Amino acid sequence: MKGIITIVSFLLVGVATAIFIGFGNSFSPEPTAIDHELQGLNEKYTIKFSHVVAENTPKGIAASMFAQLVKEKTNGWVEVQVFPNGVLTDAQGEFEALKKNKVQMIAPAISEITVHDPKWTVMDLPFVFENEEMVEQAFDGRLGELLFKSIEKYDYKGLAFWENSFKQFTNNIRPVQEPVDMQGLSVRTMPSPLLLDMYQILGAQPQSFSFNEIYEALRNEHIDGIENTLSNIYSKGLYQQQKYMTVSNHNYLGYAVLMDREVWDSLPVQHQNSLMEALDEVATWLRKYAKEHNKDMLEEAEDSGSLEIHYLTENERDLWKEAMKPIYDKYEPIIGEEIMGEVRKLQADR
Ligand code: LMR
Repeated sequence: MKGIITIVSFLLVGVATAIFIGFGNSFSPEPTAIDHELQGLNEKYTIKFSHVVAENTPKGIAASMFAQLVKEKTNGWVEVQVFPNGVLTDAQGEFEALKKNKVQMIAPAISEITVHDPKWTVMDLPFVFENEEMVEQAFDGRLGELLFKSIEKYDYKGLAFWENSFKQFTNNIRPVQEPVDMQGLSVRTMPSPLLLDMYQILGAQPQSFSFNEIYEALRNEHIDGIENTLSNIYSKGLYQQQKYMTVSNHNYLGYAVLMDREVWDSLPVQHQNSLMEALDEVATWLRKYAKEHNKDMLEEAEDSGSLEIHYLTENERDLWKEAMKPIYDKYEPIIGEEIMGEVRKLQADR
């Protein structure tokens, strides 16, 4: 009997010891430390980068430059494959492709982003920025931070702001100098709710469709006019289909480089740093190039003689700003006081 008790005791002690040692790790309060800094650095990453403009445009050149810089900075461990001209999908399709991980990076116009985060309509407010310096302060400062913070609610990671220029009007019906001249014109614009409202308030008929469809829509006279930057008007040959241009600088066309938040978070920190370095270098180059290129395209338009060009006078700008007040009344509450406060600071400092 005594022998049995001894054996059972040994067994119980052995089982207790095995439980403590064998599962000790699973009960430890601290998970095993994972070195995210090094994890995944010996894996190749491919980033498909989709955009909708030609390769020789400011954004097109910037995307190619970015791809080359990333290859150099990651010693080829990260490859950025650029898909220009909307070859994969149009601007709105890029958001879905990002969510389905069919592409991993996009650089849509901010007006396209407003469809997904209405606070971004702040950048579409008509005549909100007097010049490029104000836009740059917005992108570089608290306003840009607030926009990137806002979009994270929709699971996008904002990585950089890229610039193009102010937008102008072109059309085939009449010279546009005052708001009343827009009445009855069918105008293509991006699908920003603010832009659509803006043209409706002016008595125009806004139509929203993809960038690649504009040329045919003008050629077939499905629309009378468009708004866009000089670089886009020229890169798509749209000036050949238009008689009148109004240099209004009524809105600014900028871009935001976006990734899906989960995909961004899955990248090793070292690669994230390389991507951000490359984006910063490209943004610095693009800020200068976009200004110069759009200025050159305006001079080409003036020299071509193919467009009757009108420059809004200060008095005319005041008429447009007055006509646009209902837009501010509607969208300031949507944009919110925190972001509008930053706009007012920029306007006060100019
Ligand atoms: C547009 O559709 O007019 C713009 O999105 C084109 C661009 O510059 O991306």
